[in-house]
Amino acid sequence: MTELKTLIGTVRIRNPIILSSGIWGSTYSTLNRAYKEGFGAVTTKSVGLNPRKGHPNPSVIYIPEIKSILNAVGLANPGYDAFSEELREINPDVKYSVSIFGSSSTEFQQIIQHMDNNLTGNTPIAYELNLSCPHAKKVGIAVGTDPNIVYTIVEACKVRTKVPIWVKLTPNITNIKSVAESAISAGADAIVAINTIKAMMIDIHIKKPVLGNISGGLSGQAIKPIGVRVIYDLYERFGSEIPLVGVGGISSWQDAIEYILAGATAIQIGSALIDYDAPQTLIHNILNGLNEYLSREGKSFSQLRGLAHE
Ligand SMILES: Cc1cc2nc3c(=O)[nH]c(=O)nc-3n(C[C@H](O)[C@H](O)[C@H](O)COP(=O)(O)O)c2cc1C
Repeated sequence: MTELKTLIGTVRIRNPIILSSGIWGSTYSTLNRAYKEGFGAVTTKSVGLNPRKGHPNPSVIYIPEIKSILNAVGLANPGYDAFSEELREINPDVKYSVSIFGSSSTEFQQIIQHMDNNLTGNTPIAYELNLSCPHAKKVGIAVGTDPNIVYTIVEACKVRTKVPIWVKLTPNITNIKSVAESAISAGADAIVAINTIKAMMIDIHIKKPVLGNISGGLSGQAIKPIGVRVIYDLYERFGSEIPLVGVGGISSWQDAIEYILAGATAIQIGSALIDYDAPQTLIHNILNGLNEYLSREGKSFSQLRGLAHE
C-alpha cells in the first residue's frame, strides 16, 4: 500500500480526496457518513450570516450527455447560528472544513468567531471561504473577482482565527492569478479551485430558460479540463509556495492524477457522487487506482505533484 496521507499546509488528512462543498454537506449525519465512506476530509455546504431559502425551482438539473450538473441553488442555508448547532453533532474523529460565504470582511469575521466559539469539541481543519459562487447576489463572485476585496476579506479572517483559511476561487474571471496572489499575500493557507462555471440551458419546447434563476453554475465532467488548466496556471505561477486543492469534474483515479500532475496537493469531489448509489464505491475505486498507479511509478503521492511542468 502506498502512503496516501496528505499534508495541506499544516493540515494532515488520511488521504487526498475531500468531499467538496454543497454536496452531502448540509447535515452532520451526511458529513459523518461521507467521512465513514472513506473521504480524507469533508466540506460543509456554504453557510452565511442569515437563513436563505435560495433560488426558485428548478434549481438542480442533471445533464446526462455530459455527466454534468447545472445548479442555481443560490446558497440556501439555515444561517450560521443554526448551522453551528448542527456541526456540533459531527463525530469527533471526522476531519471537516466549514465553507463560509459573506458580502464583507465583517460578515466573514462574525461567522468565523461564532464557529470558533462553538466548535470547540471537534475544531474544523479549515474555514473555506467561498469567494466563487456564480449565482448569488452580493456574495461569491461578487466579492471574489476583485483582488482588493479578496485581500481585505482574507486578511480579516486570518486575524480572527488560528484555524487555517482556504480560499475557493472562481474560474469566471480573466486573470485568476491576480486574485490568488491577493489571497496568498493576505495569508491564505491554501487555494481551492474551481467553483462552478456560469452557464444556462433553454427549454426549446417552452422557449424559456430551464433554471428558475435563469442562469447557474456548471459542474461535473464537462468542466474538468478547465479545472486542470486553472490548477496548472496556479502551479506555474506559485509552484509549491502554496497548497492547491483541485476540484472540478473528478470522477476517477485518472482524473485525480491529472490534477496532481497539474500541481494539486489534494482534490475535491462533488458532482460525481450523483452517479453512485454510495460514495464508498467511488472513493474505493479512486484510492485503489491511486495506489496502483503510484506503485507502478515507484513514486509517493507528493512526488507526483506538478510533474507535468517539468
Ligand atoms: C448542487 C451543488 C451545490 C453546490 N454548492 C456549493 C456551495 O454551497 N459552496 C461552494 O463553495 N461550492 C458549491 N458547489 C460547487 C462544488 O463544491 C464544486 O466546486 C463544483 O461543483 C465543481 O466540482 P465537481 O465538478 O466535482 O462538482 C456546489 C455544486 C453543486 C453541483
